[in-house]
Amino acid sequence: SSTSTSTRPKVVITRNLGPETMPLLLNRDDIDVVLWPEDSYCDRKWLLENIRGAAGLLVMLSDRVDTELLDAAGPSLKVLSTMSVGYEHVPLPELVKRNVRLGYTPDVLTDAVADIAIMLALMASRNAEEVTQLVRKGEWYKQPWSPFLFCGPQLSASTIHPERTAGFIGFGRIAQATLRRLVPFGINTCLYSGNPSTPADPAADAALAAQLGVRTLRRVPLAELAAQSDVVFVLAPGGPATQHIVDAPFLRAMKPTAVLVNAARGTLVDTDALVTALRENWIWGAGLDVLEGEPVIHADHPLVKEPRCTVLPHIGSASIETRQAMAKMAAENLLGGVLDQAMSAEVVG
Ligand code: DGY
Repeated sequence: SSTSTSTRPKVVITRNLGPETMPLLLNRDDIDVVLWPEDSYCDRKWLLENIRGAAGLLVMLSDRVDTELLDAAGPSLKVLSTMSVGYEHVPLPELVKRNVRLGYTPDVLTDAVADIAIMLALMASRNAEEVTQLVRKGEWYKQPWSPFLFCGPQLSASTIHPERTAGFIGFGRIAQATLRRLVPFGINTCLYSGNPSTPADPAADAALAAQLGVRTLRRVPLAELAAQSDVVFVLAPGGPATQHIVDAPFLRAMKPTAVLVNAARGTLVDTDALVTALRENWIWGAGLDVLEGEPVIHADHPLVKEPRCTVLPHIGSASIETRQAMAKMAAENLLGGVLDQAMSAEVVG
């Protein structure tokens, strides 16, 4: 608990991290823990009041970290720890300027997010949204089994389509874990678009292809990726550099039987363009774990209403095992920063 006379460094935590992790923080006598007491989104006013003089702050990706909050913390702040791998919600240059270290949670969520990416690809191609709605409404009897009813393109290779190509916007840990899962589906070609500031390296691509078990792995321009892929996975970081990287020209270039999966950040996909692409059958379907403007997404959102679009409420990392690992890592990063020690994972700005 916090006392105004304590000289121990104060850490503020915007959500309860669960019974496995909280003792790691609460059972120490070298820090003062101030915890948002509700099981709900942390109140901004409470945060601005409590952050004063803190040495560490642990946030969720739903918390807004900005100069107002950093100013309220003041010069005592040494570390920001986010319980996420993405840090689009964090002004990194401001942290660098203020010498505040940033901890995040890579690796531990890679498999959980790759699992969801595969699920979304299957749901989008096999019309899961439309057909589960039908059953929920009790209308299965109206559309009994018939030869070509509810058919969608097959994600895995078939005699008709022995060659399958997956495209990845962003080709980091999660994309590669997703590709590993696609190899047993018979997907043998992988195209990706990487960070434009790093040069293409065909030799490294060939080595990685051998390691991942695909025949072809190539870095290509976005237009080629769009045109060649049977499924496109958006798995790059958010932020200004990738804003609307999937736009109308990209979607128009995709195959009409291809599906788009976004398990990264909503900002990478131009919502209006995707609505048009689905309505006008430029593409087959979409599977989205993230949306621009989330979490304020109403039932009449055009993508929520689109029968060929599955929208999940940002649950990519939401397996019990992964969230526990993320919470623990975020707590360790917080401690590392406050106690001037190494962190499990630190963003170098
Ligand atoms: C992240 O960690 O950035 C994911 O979006 C949620 O776990």
